[in-house]
Amino acid sequence: MTLSATAPAKVNLALHVTGERDDGYHDLDTIAVFTGFGDQVSVTAGDRHAGLVAVETGGPFAGDLGSIEDNLVSVAARMLAKARGGELPPVRIVLDKRLPVASGLGGGSADAAAVLKLLARFWRLGERVDLASIAGRLGADVPMCLRGVPLRARGRGDEIAPLDGVPALWLVLASPLVGVDTGEIFTRLENKANAPIGPVGAANFVEALAHARNDLQAVTAHLVPQIEAVVAALAGQPGCELARMSGSGAACFGLFSSERAAQAAAARIEVDHAHWWCVATSTIASPALAGAA
Ligand code: C5P
Repeated sequence: MTLSATAPAKVNLALHVTGERDDGYHDLDTIAVFTGFGDQVSVTAGDRHAGLVAVETGGPFAGDLGSIEDNLVSVAARMLAKARGGELPPVRIVLDKRLPVASGLGGGSADAAAVLKLLARFWRLGERVDLASIAGRLGADVPMCLRGVPLRARGRGDEIAPLDGVPALWLVLASPLVGVDTGEIFTRLENKANAPIGPVGAANFVEALAHARNDLQAVTAHLVPQIEAVVAALAGQPGCELARMSGSGAACFGLFSSERAAQAAAARIEVDHAHWWCVATSTIASPALAGAA
């Protein structure tokens, strides 16, 4: 039996930093969505000689991953096995790394969330293990990725409220492929007490986003000047409704009015900036809408 899943990219459509916390983290107010494009993760029966969890990697960005033992996929699998306790059949996990590493798209967090869900099925854990609590210990973005629906998150990023009525949106992701250290960006941030995002509902979604910001964008753009060119390239494409950086960067997104406009924009950016990474994709809609589609 092989179980596989996409680990979607997480895109912060808006991200306000609203305070500094006592635990070394920052309070956020963010609107996040997840895309059809992502890493691919699969779980299959492993070889007992390779240990309980053996992880293999492939794909265009596998070479940018650090030690596989320290990868969130391995850590998530070990934490889940420990929480379950007792004998478990060995597994082989294959991670096809299609999202650029350290790019503000939550790829590592998405991989960890996907592995938790796949292993819970593979090991038939049912409700016995609290995946959300393990996700919270793996990183600030992992609980969001476990939900995988349009959401607003506050606190460290783990006080999550799903957003109803958000349709699938077409977008283009583009990155100059410069890795960014999230911790460093937060440290360099001067204004850590910004106002939260205003009211956001399905009816005024894109308009409300346009009034919001990514408070990390200026800091990252100072370290990675290409960000301005990426945002300008996205914003200048026909049909682009909003262009901004995601997370702590350096990946940026452009929201587009149609699939055709998004595909055409990605094709043009690929030609004009061959050394960037660029993909057109759509976001995962709120559950009721996804069911109705
Ligand atoms: O939790 P994660 O490992 O993804 O976060 C990376 C770093 O980003 C943290 O060590 C912290 O320095 C910073 N961070 C923060 N506030 C958040 C999320 C992340 O300061 N809400």
